[in-house]
Amino acid sequence: PPSTMSTHATGPRPTNGKFAGFHSLTFWCGNAFQSASWYGARFGMTRVAYRGLETGDRSRVKHVMRSGNVFFIFESALNPGDVEMGKWLQDHGDGVKDVAFKVDNVQSVYDYAVSHGAKSVKEVWEEEDEGGKVIFATVSTYGDTTHTLVQGSDDYKGAFLPNFAAVDGASEDPLLHVLPIPQLSFVDHCVGNQGDQQMVPVAEFYEKAFNFHRFWTVDDKMIHTEYSSLRSIVMTDYDEKVKMPINEPANGKRKSQIQEFVDYHNGAGVQHAALNVENILQTVPALKARGVKFLTIPKAYYKRLAERLAASPVNIAEDLAVLEEHNILVDFDDQGYLLQIFTKPLEDRPTFFMEIIQRCNHEGFGAGNFKALFESIEHEQAKRGNL
Ligand code: FE2
Repeated sequence: PPSTMSTHATGPRPTNGKFAGFHSLTFWCGNAFQSASWYGARFGMTRVAYRGLETGDRSRVKHVMRSGNVFFIFESALNPGDVEMGKWLQDHGDGVKDVAFKVDNVQSVYDYAVSHGAKSVKEVWEEEDEGGKVIFATVSTYGDTTHTLVQGSDDYKGAFLPNFAAVDGASEDPLLHVLPIPQLSFVDHCVGNQGDQQMVPVAEFYEKAFNFHRFWTVDDKMIHTEYSSLRSIVMTDYDEKVKMPINEPANGKRKSQIQEFVDYHNGAGVQHAALNVENILQTVPALKARGVKFLTIPKAYYKRLAERLAASPVNIAEDLAVLEEHNILVDFDDQGYLLQIFTKPLEDRPTFFMEIIQRCNHEGFGAGNFKALFESIEHEQAKRGNL
């Protein structure tokens, strides 16, 4: 079969539990206060909750930024000698430490995972306040990244999660309403870059520990530029609520951009998160107005796209000239299409970035765009002296 085709779970529903989607991403960073403010200014996110000295937390501070159902937690150490976070920052720089999943039963998902190859980071615990009770557990995944399992957060009545203080971020930040506010919906997928030959073992880890299945794959015969290529397997749960693409480098004449990430991150880690939006032509101009920088795509891509679309039954509702003006990419099959665009790296260490994606009856990941995208990334990589 074509190697990008979606494959769905066969057989009975696994008994370890149901996944309901991404809950949040936690970034470990040197100065969470300022990182949170940056996502506020550039992405138009609003600070909604906080933990720190004022809430009785003596060792760590957490600022929660929200847009739609996208929740980013920025966490920093408060005290000298926080070896765990110090080591993280030394090894990886600022980055995504935890990708949290909503599940229907933390205890059973956790028990199943740790008896099938996942390392326990924190056993099941509860947090409770007047807004209700939420249950958690944390297990390790690739590199120093973790997955926190979250149960009951949708029924929780307070700000974000128990023991967070509510923050009126919309009135707190006078900059928020000065510029257009990008409308984000939810985290669509979250991509992990692996070292050489580590993609298959990591995909098998998701299969074994969480009962995920392979949803979509691309190999280096399909996706390659003059210089490098990509291998990727997308793992997902039974209901396809959580999508975790796993990449590995496939070097060609030059160094793969996946390897560039792995070198600077000192191993496997989260390369990008894709934020699903309902109207990319609202979101992208608003992000640009706020100073977010995106990769640019050569004119030739849009010329070729128009030819390919002319030969296809699919109808793109958006104006191609406007998509081109914003460097938005289009991938499609006979049933539907997706629109996507990638920011330039958001940190000094290459290459953590964000993707903005709008889906119109199309569940792929933009395989038709990878070549144009890779060429654009390699152009930036050459500027950094890393190609
Ligand atoms: Fe992506």
